[in-house]
Amino acid sequence: MIHLQNITKVYRTKTIETTALNNIDLDVPKGQFLSIMGPSGCGKSTLLNIIGLLDEPSNGMIKVDGKQITNYTSRATAKFRNEKLGFIFQSFHLIPDLNVIDNVELPLLYRSISSKKRKQMAAEALESVGLANRKHHFPSQLSGGQKQRVAIARAIVGKPEIILADEPTGNLDSVMGDEVMEILNKLNKDFGTTIIMVTHDERMAKKTDRLVRLYDGTQVA
Ligand SMILES: Nc1ncnc2c1ncn2[C@@H]1O[C@H](COP(=O)(O)OP(=O)(O)O)[C@@H](O)[C@H]1O
Ligand SMILES: [Mg+2]
Repeated sequence: MIHLQNITKVYRTKTIETTALNNIDLDVPKGQFLSIMGPSGCGKSTLLNIIGLLDEPSNGMIKVDGKQITNYTSRATAKFRNEKLGFIFQSFHLIPDLNVIDNVELPLLYRSISSKKRKQMAAEALESVGLANRKHHFPSQLSGGQKQRVAIARAIVGKPEIILADEPTGNLDSVMGDEVMEILNKLNKDFGTTIIMVTHDERMAKKTDRLVRLYDGTQVA
């Protein structure tokens, strides 16, 4: 479903050139839960951001469902990102001034869905992460694990086929981390959502279908 061919990313500043990714070839079948591991700075986030069209490769091609997405216009990119992808980050990225349900509803504002329907979909997403009773709390009133569950609800509210998660358990203790992993695993099993997760934690990686290791921008396993 996701096909990466010869993906290379070089960052250039005035003084230094960094090859963040070096000729990555990767195929991720539909419904796979893939984890990516490797030392800090090896290119994990760069790879995830390129798959999620948050960053452009210097070279190479990505196809999703047979369509080449690396040559999309910015409008097509935004639409693809909004409809197909859900993102989860290590530091949650919730909006502090919005309550829980309004945070979860955000991705739906870019689609033509009535306000009533949006609220209903957000409530369902919150229910599926076990936070139906926290709708009107603000992020500052939640634990780290709860914040990450809100972020997951926001990622899945639009029913994306692909979830990209960059160290989703990195800021959580092991109990909360396990809760988040259980939710991701359930999404993967129940809805066949394809998940690509960057992690530092071998224990979390073991709970996924497949592990890819990066070292200095190169795939080593
Ligand atoms: N915007 C950027 N400009 C310049 N260099 C960058 C940028 N983003 C990442 N890098 C460099 O690319 C390499 C890979 O970074 P990253 O993908 O964030 O690694 P990881 O997520 O594995 O820790 C690092 O050497 C980093 O310093
Ligand atoms: Mg990173």
